[in-house]
Formats: sequence, structure tokens, C-alpha cells
Amino acid sequence: MAWYKVAKEGSMKDGDLFKANIEGREILLIRDGANYYATSCYCTHEDYDLSEGFMDDHTLICPNHFAVFNPKDGSVISPPEGSGDIDPLHSYKTKVENGQIMVELP
Ligand code: FES
Repeated sequence: MAWYKVAKEGSMKDGDLFKANIEGREILLIRDGANYYATSCYCTHEDYDLSEGFMDDHTLICPNHFAVFNPKDGSVISPPEGSGDIDPLHSYKTKVENGQIMVELP
């Protein structure tokens, strides 16, 4: 496991979603209030780019068919209507250090 700098603190507004490319891996950085979360970047339903999604009431929404995820741990709050279960997103630890938002990746 290693920590990577992904963005400067203050560069994201509340509710922003940012796709970061870390050594060829795309992750989604999420700001929710004072918290930062990191998940995999593509919806587990049909691979839609979640950086084009949005936050609503502390949940992450895929705009393609409206799957709802918990940004804290990547779990599925509700799958798209009419679909079966879908897999959770990967979830990664974050921290802020020396003004940098950092993500831990394996
Ligand atoms: S691709 Fe995300 S809900 Fe279908």
C-alpha cells in the first residue's frame, strides 16, 4: 500500500467529484462537506464514468440509470430500478496532509 497525492486541499467544492489518474489507475475523489472519500471511478452496473455523476444528500448517484452508492465505503444503497443486485465500488482511504488530499492504493 502507498499514499498518493491526488489534489490540493481547497481545490474541490462540497459535492465535487474528481477523476484522478494515479499511475494508470482511475479513481474517483469525492468531497462531501469536510470529508474526502475515494472509490473506483466506474459504475458497477454498466461502467458509466461516475465523475459525471453527482452527490445528493451524502450519496453518490450514477446518472446513467441512477444507482446510488455510499461514498464512504462504496456500498450499494440502491441498484438501478429493475436491475438485480450490483457490486459495490472499491473504496480507498484518504487523508489530508500538508495541504494535499492523499489516497492510499494497493
Ligand atoms: S451504469 Fe450506473 S446505473 Fe447503470
